[in-house]
Amino acid sequence: QELQINLEQIVKGGYDHFMLKEIYEQPNAIKDTYRGRLLVKEGIIRMAGIDDNLDRFLNANRIIVVACGTSWHAGLVSEYIFEDLARIPVEVEYASEFRYRNPVITNKDVVIAISQSGETADTLAAIKLAKQHGAFVFGVCNVVGSSIAREADAGAYTHAGPEIGVASTKAFTTQITVLTLIALKLAKANGNISTSNYQYHLQELELIPEKVKKALESDKHILEVAKMYKDAKNCLYLGRGYNFPVALEGALKLKEISYIHAEGYPAAEMKHGPIALIDEQMPVFVIATKKGHYEKVVSNVQEIKARKGKIIGIVTEGDVDVKNLADHVIEVPDTLEALSPLLTTIPLQLLSYHIAVLLDKNVDQPRNLAKSVTVE
Ligand code: G6P
Repeated sequence: QELQINLEQIVKGGYDHFMLKEIYEQPNAIKDTYRGRLLVKEGIIRMAGIDDNLDRFLNANRIIVVACGTSWHAGLVSEYIFEDLARIPVEVEYASEFRYRNPVITNKDVVIAISQSGETADTLAAIKLAKQHGAFVFGVCNVVGSSIAREADAGAYTHAGPEIGVASTKAFTTQITVLTLIALKLAKANGNISTSNYQYHLQELELIPEKVKKALESDKHILEVAKMYKDAKNCLYLGRGYNFPVALEGALKLKEISYIHAEGYPAAEMKHGPIALIDEQMPVFVIATKKGHYEKVVSNVQEIKARKGKIIGIVTEGDVDVKNLADHVIEVPDTLEALSPLLTTIPLQLLSYHIAVLLDKNVDQPRNLAKSVTVE
């Protein structure tokens, strides 16, 4: 018994749970993802899976992303990056819907399948269908040699290392890292990004691991915030643009491990429904970083305040406007808008983790959930 406990402590690297270990591994995991690929000085992104199939990408009518769960959220982030930087139309589909919808797929489509495990049944079925229709399938997987990685025509691994906690953390940020590299590479290749903007993104991406470390330093403050909201029955997460998918992911993390009902919404959609729910019982987590619709999100924050909602802002370091209105703010370092999901995700992961621990839930193995869903 004693030996077993010690062994478990060793594999958890001194952390209480795998989830916390994996949250803290993110600076290194992101570095491992871009190592050998992101060559800032040379101004090159080296990815054989893209180079060898560049024509398929550059001649694609559109990119269709298929995925489930957290990987689907990474797909949604990539939609903003691909369209914004590379000007390639993107559709993001739940694999389970796509496969049964009799979707229109042609040989001019590129399908990107995102899957940590590489074994999700719906995602695997979706790419088999896409291949039958002649689409080119590119896999973004973490587990090397997994079914989706083998079935895809080409791919790029995330290199996040094993993820044990059922709630996905480092898989998400490394998926976004790979997809950002691909989008930047394609934007350069199709001429839709200026050399200076491309170079700026490369430099900033290289700085992300250090900034994630900085974001992790708010952990103690986040624990204090978690203590205040652990008994909430419902929570709302709002974000806009690149950070709308982060709001969805923040809500999913809370649901998965603390069993608190949470919803993610695009901030501007609040007025079309969720605003009716806001009262003094309702914590609202608002992602309001400086770049990207900041003023508009600030006016959403004012609307929440007018209805006495509790506001927890995820803001850029040095923020003033949201700080003046919010009940609490959690700061993240400044970065480019396209890279901000890699930072804003971190406090939301920690928040869910602490709330689940405070509620004495099984953080690493939440009820009814599986790490890898290999059946329909
Ligand atoms: C399960 C896991 C999630 C994961 C989803 C997709 O629901 O609990 O954490 O995001 O499957 O898994 P995949 O391995 O395809 O990324």
